[in-house]
Amino acid sequence: MRRALIAANWKMHGSRDFIRELVGQLLPSLSNGVNGVDLVLCPPFPYLAQVAELSRGAELILGAQNICSEHEGAFTGEISGRMLADFKVRYVIVGHSERRKLMAENDALVARKFVAAQASGLIPVLCVGETLDERNSGNAAQVVEQQLSAVLEGSGVEALRSAVIAYEPVWAIGTGCSASTSQAQDMHASIRRMIAEHDPEVAQSVQIVYGGSVTPDNAPDLFSQPDIDGGLIGGASLNAESFIRICQSVS
Ligand code: PGA
Repeated sequence: MRRALIAANWKMHGSRDFIRELVGQLLPSLSNGVNGVDLVLCPPFPYLAQVAELSRGAELILGAQNICSEHEGAFTGEISGRMLADFKVRYVIVGHSERRKLMAENDALVARKFVAAQASGLIPVLCVGETLDERNSGNAAQVVEQQLSAVLEGSGVEALRSAVIAYEPVWAIGTGCSASTSQAQDMHASIRRMIAEHDPEVAQSVQIVYGGSVTPDNAPDLFSQPDIDGGLIGGASLNAESFIRICQSVS
């Protein structure tokens, strides 16, 4: 039986005051966790220590939004997996579509970041997903397979035993237009089939979460699908009430 995972991706939002207030509002409902669910908060880098401090003793896990593919050295502005681990970070998002598009991260770089994360003992949350054009031209599954293959070639299927996959259709991110429950379930099942070609047991055990305009209203249906193991939540995670409702809607 797979555990569920809900991760908040705060992106480049917040301030010390905002985060103090948000975490303060989350704690009464989430500090004891939600049964069977891993709850992860991914603040911007400067606020990792603050979130760790504010949530000390609570069942909230720290995650980061990005990682450098290198461990150490002359990489001005970059942050390594070792540094993240030093701050008690346990999860790190790799290959988010905003980084693929805006920072020109390609499959090869994402695969190296995945390796770097695991080498530092972090659990990568590997984001995959197609654009609207790719979906409309019937290539969605192929695009996702290619993104996944880059990581499988670099790390092997066994590496997915300590990783999470996030299916995030680019057209659904921040648009208010989530994938339908069946579109999401179909892709999650297809990702599991792709992995099963390498190792059926890994395919059954890996957590695959959905991201893209998840709200308290659509979360219960999405999370009730057999192959959807939770969500990566952007906009709705910046509002305590919405995020709490989303976390509590995992059955
Ligand atoms: P959204 O973002 O929930 O605001 O669509 C999800 C994500 O980018 O991870």
